[in-house]
Amino acid sequence: MSEAPIQEKVEAQAIDNLEPDFDGEFPIVIEGLRNSFGEQVVHEGLDLKVKRGEVLGVVGGSGSGKSVLMRSIIGLQVPDQGTIEVFGRNIADESAREDMAIRSRWGVLFQGGALFSTLTVGENVEVPLKQFYPELDPELMHEIARYKVVLSGLPADAASKYPAELSGGMKKRAGLARALALDPELLFLDEPTAGLDPIGAARFDELTRNLADTLGLTVFLITHDLDTLYAICDRVAVIADKKVIAVGTIPELLKSDHPWIQEYFNGPRGRAVQARPEHGKSMDSQGQTGE
Ligand SMILES: Nc1ncnc2c1ncn2[C@@H]1O[C@H](COP(=O)(O)OP(=O)(O)OP(=O)(O)O)[C@@H](O)[C@H]1O
Ligand SMILES: [Mg+2]
Repeated sequence: MSEAPIQEKVEAQAIDNLEPDFDGEFPIVIEGLRNSFGEQVVHEGLDLKVKRGEVLGVVGGSGSGKSVLMRSIIGLQVPDQGTIEVFGRNIADESAREDMAIRSRWGVLFQGGALFSTLTVGENVEVPLKQFYPELDPELMHEIARYKVVLSGLPADAASKYPAELSGGMKKRAGLARALALDPELLFLDEPTAGLDPIGAARFDELTRNLADTLGLTVFLITHDLDTLYAICDRVAVIADKKVIAVGTIPELLKSDHPWIQEYFNGPRGRAVQARPEHGKSMDSQGQTGE
């Protein structure tokens, strides 16, 4: 009897357990969010809707609350006020058991990567598999992990390496492989290209866009990287003044007269990126020459 292809086995044993994919328009809906640490208010009256299937770039100054926002959406930070619906369910209201079902439907690449240094790359990818599907056959778990490692653009033999044996860019890919372990519908990436050289960053961007398109993912992408915004984001949300002050395509944002947006997109770095031929279309489409 011939062996079933790995993908079929995965679907039979793991994906069957998942609920149907979310088919509403907005997998993430945030209303009136307030987060604070002691006296420090990080978010106040923050609203945001993330569209299904989009790559949403999230930008804002350092300390503006991008990572805290991501942590709130995935339930690691309990807000003072407001509601956060993920896949149509208020994540704060769910029982722990139901939370597990929701949690298995997103993947996260944390700022800094956060791989377990004592585990190989493959074992790192198996961590969420073991957590959510402890009954999976170990051999199948290894197979899934190897598949995700390759999907993330690493050579198959990287699965048996330890994080300390990898370059910065490879670590990011390993973190991505772990984020993809559970076949998520939603992918959270916090500064995935920080610390990569421009070529490595561009390759990672391309990988993210390809995965989003081929796997139908919705991507919440926190970044400082203007190239990433132009290259792969469908829309960009700007965090300033404790809230999302604008969300839209880059041409739409360029029309805003908010000082932070103007400084960010039309400051020296923003203008340098816009001036590149591959990004000229974004600028033309809203009829500005910038001069
Ligand atoms: N666990 C915490 N306890 C206390 N303060 C916190 C905690 N987490 C974040 N903060 C504070 O909340 C604010 C927002 O932090 P956050 O990490 O979301 O910023 P960020 O926009 O992601 O910045 P960066 O671009 O530098 O990553 C900062 O002032 C930070 O010091
Ligand atoms: Mg951050």
